Amino acid sequence: MILDVQGIEMSYGALKVLHGIDLVVEKSETFAIIGPNGAGKTTLFKVLTGEAMPTAGTIRHNGQDITKLPAHQRARRGFGRTFQVARVFNELDLRTNVVISIESRLRYSGGNPGPWWRWKPSRDVQAEADEILDRFGFPRRRWNDEAGYLSHGDRKRLEFCVALATKPEVLMLDEPTAGMSPSDRKEMTHLLARLKAETGITILMTEHDMDIIFELADRLMVLNFGEVIAMGAPGAVRDNPTVRKVYLGQDHQHA
Ligand SMILES: Nc1ncnc2c1ncn2[C@@H]1O[C@H](COP(=O)(O)OP(=O)(O)OP(=O)(O)O)[C@@H](O)[C@H]1O
Ligand SMILES: [Mg+2]
Repeated sequence: MILDVQGIEMSYGALKVLHGIDLVVEKSETFAIIGPNGAGKTTLFKVLTGEAMPTAGTIRHNGQDITKLPAHQRARRGFGRTFQVARVFNELDLRTNVVISIESRLRYSGGNPGPWWRWKPSRDVQAEADEILDRFGFPRRRWNDEAGYLSHGDRKRLEFCVALATKPEVLMLDEPTAGMSPSDRKEMTHLLARLKAETGITILMTEHDMDIIFELADRLMVLNFGEVIAMGAPGAVRDNPTVRKVYLGQDHQHA
């Protein structure tokens, strides 16, 4: 297993929002966390990336306890950052954004791009950026567009390319299609499905769109008021009566 999370609790002041979360994520699986607004999904993400410290519980990554490691050290260990924190430089073009992400990965892993005044990406770095953009992002004619002028959907796609360029072992996506138009949403789902099939990367995601979850997730977990109320394969979770009641809304009129 890549991630082994046990007994996570988390409070904001007096408000306890996670009540003992256990979850295990296996290599190459797509694991989704779903639940109503305010259930604690983003908080759990923050605890996993190191942006928030849990008040109890342990997080193991490939067997090692990383509960107390700060966010940047987890990122170096292969935790892809979520979209909200992926850095996109508005004044730079799409290609340069991806190049910078690759360079920062190389720097962390011991490579040295040299002094900034002589900085020029190597051919390898440029080729890697081009491949990422080509496969998961944009047609070549758009590579010189400035990131600041992108539409919301295109920006999310660029952030996705920037996250991929860090070569994460676990790609963490907090609502990757939030605020997208139906066609952008469809395209993002298609990209994620391809990424999964072609690279076998491990994905941990939250998402409100159920169609996307059922298309992509191998397993999922349902959070409600900071507690896990169901976990398993999408079909089994969908048919779980408690889940239907609190989340999918099937029985709301009778509840
Ligand atoms: N920084 C904060 N300070 C205080 N309370 C917070 C903070 N962030 C979140 N909360 C509260 O913690 C609870 C869980 O919020 P969280 O954002 O984790 O939910 P979520 O499942 O991601 O919701 P959504 O589906 O709306 O994104 C909510 O009651 C929320 O109001
Ligand atoms: Mg959230």
